[in-house]
Amino acid sequence: MARKIAAGNWKMNGTGAALAELDSLTQDPVPDGVDVLICPPAPLISRAAAVAGAVKIGAQDCHAKSSGAHTGDISADMLRDAGASYVILGHSERRSDHAETDAQVCAKTQAAVDAGLIAVVCIGETLDERNAGQTLEIVCGQLAASLPDTATSATCVVAYEPIWAIGTGKVPTLEQISEVHDALRAALVERFGDDGLQFSLLYGGSVKASNAVDIFGVPNVDGALVGGASLKAADFSPIIAALAAA
Ligand code: 13P
Repeated sequence: MARKIAAGNWKMNGTGAALAELDSLTQDPVPDGVDVLICPPAPLISRAAAVAGAVKIGAQDCHAKSSGAHTGDISADMLRDAGASYVILGHSERRSDHAETDAQVCAKTQAAVDAGLIAVVCIGETLDERNAGQTLEIVCGQLAASLPDTATSATCVVAYEPIWAIGTGKVPTLEQISEVHDALRAALVERFGDDGLQFSLLYGGSVKASNAVDIFGVPNVDGALVGGASLKAADFSPIIAALAAA
């Protein structure tokens, strides 16, 4: 069984005051069998890690090199040293804002794993690609090219985030989510054998308390990568509870 993960991606939101939300999240025990992860902006990682308790802390990107002349970038080693245990890689906002390619995401994933971080590798289609019937081809292609051969279920998590569902309030149907997650599972098993069954497959894109129960009922959905609804503990807690109950 893949482990269940409720992951919050705060994106470029929050200063120190936002740590009150993390503090509030830690008031409830983390349910058995669920990893709860918050990925705040990089400047908050060490302060977040200091108050996170059983909640895991992650970053939102890392550089593929471990050090060097890369002004403004942050290495996986630095993130780990700051208290992160996970890092989101290849988010569609990084792919679009910074023109990140699958090959770069793959190199970053290897760097993250080498540094002892768990990589949450994001993939997802645009609405045009979905409308053109290319969804499975696109996401399976991204999966193949973004995960290094060294990936294992212990070191990498896959997040399917249809770009048209991110921050829009639009969510694919449960059948659409199921079709993609089944295809990703099959691709992971084909490439990694039995370990492919153990990779956690997260769904992301407009997940809220009101749709989480249904989404977590879809086979091969092992959790969620949540944006907006992870910013407030009151919104994120019911999503964690829904995953624990799934
Ligand atoms: P929303 O939950 O705000 O749609 O964001 C999803 C996402 O991009 C998480 O990485």
